[in-house]
Amino acid sequence: MTNLPRGLAGRTAVVTGGAQGIGAAVVERLCGEGCRVVVLDKSAEHGRTMVDHWRQQGHDVRLAVGDVTDEAAVRSAFADVPAEWASPTLLVNLAAGFVFEGLDATRADWHAALDPTIFGLTLVTREFAAGLPDQDADAAIVNMASISAHIAQEGYLTYNTSKAAVLGLTRCMAQDLAPRGIRVNSVSPGTVWNANNERFHREALGLDRAAAEAAPEHGGKFLLRRFADPAEVAAPIAFLLSSEASFITGTDLVVDGGYLAV
Ligand SMILES: NC(=O)c1ccc[n+]([C@@H]2O[C@H](COP(=O)([O-])OP(=O)(O)OC[C@H]3O[C@@H](n4cnc5c(N)ncnc54)[C@H](O)[C@@H]3O)[C@@H](O)[C@H]2O)c1
Repeated sequence: MTNLPRGLAGRTAVVTGGAQGIGAAVVERLCGEGCRVVVLDKSAEHGRTMVDHWRQQGHDVRLAVGDVTDEAAVRSAFADVPAEWASPTLLVNLAAGFVFEGLDATRADWHAALDPTIFGLTLVTREFAAGLPDQDADAAIVNMASISAHIAQEGYLTYNTSKAAVLGLTRCMAQDLAPRGIRVNSVSPGTVWNANNERFHREALGLDRAAAEAAPEHGGKFLLRRFADPAEVAAPIAFLLSSEASFITGTDLVVDGGYLAV
């Protein structure tokens, strides 16, 4: 872990979708930087397992079980932050709707895609901002986009549209919140090797990680010829939250092993 003065130690962060995958790596990274973390996740099962694990390691992590689209759950996640913790000044919006449909997407599909990724994200951000001072808040938000926000992918209309919208709302939030000292950015990862991707490659394609990375149509699309580990996305998120990114707002940081470069 770094010894640089990143401006993260002692602060409280809220991480949505922090119970698994990239979110869990973000929680781990922020704990390592000395943050206290509230995990807002709809999976009680994964949330409890991970939060117990982090607490056993001596970290201050609290689980708020709830859906980011549920106003009451979002309100309590912030209201229940322990009084002895600093009030939250860092927010990572990772929870999203994983809906991969094309032109045939139904209204229900669109709601499932957009409600968490767009409405839920704004709901959590609104509650977060409500707890911050009107000026000089010294706060930062990172929203999760994707390389899918930047490109077309066959049959991915709902997902790619939802992620492209994250880029737009990040810019708008950055403008609206800048006068209060709140920076807002997004990150756009390429394929990150987590449990979901491991299962998809194994069950749908019959490939393990090494085989998938060696395949020209999968790993071969990345200049680095491999997928990311979750920690490789958590690190740039920590950077954007930190004081080292103090003049960065309203932009997207692509973390894609060179996928979009060619
Ligand atoms: N894995 C990748 O390759 C990849 C690439 C680019 C972007 N992303 C984005 O990164 C983020 C995390 O993805 P991941 O692959 O780590 O996912 P994951 O499925 O491993 O974890 C997602 C977590 O979010 C929680 N969650 C989902 N919907 C929620 C909701 N409505 N309210 C509260 N919690 C909710 C889940 O319970 C889970 O714990 C997503 O925004 C995803 O679109 C992932």
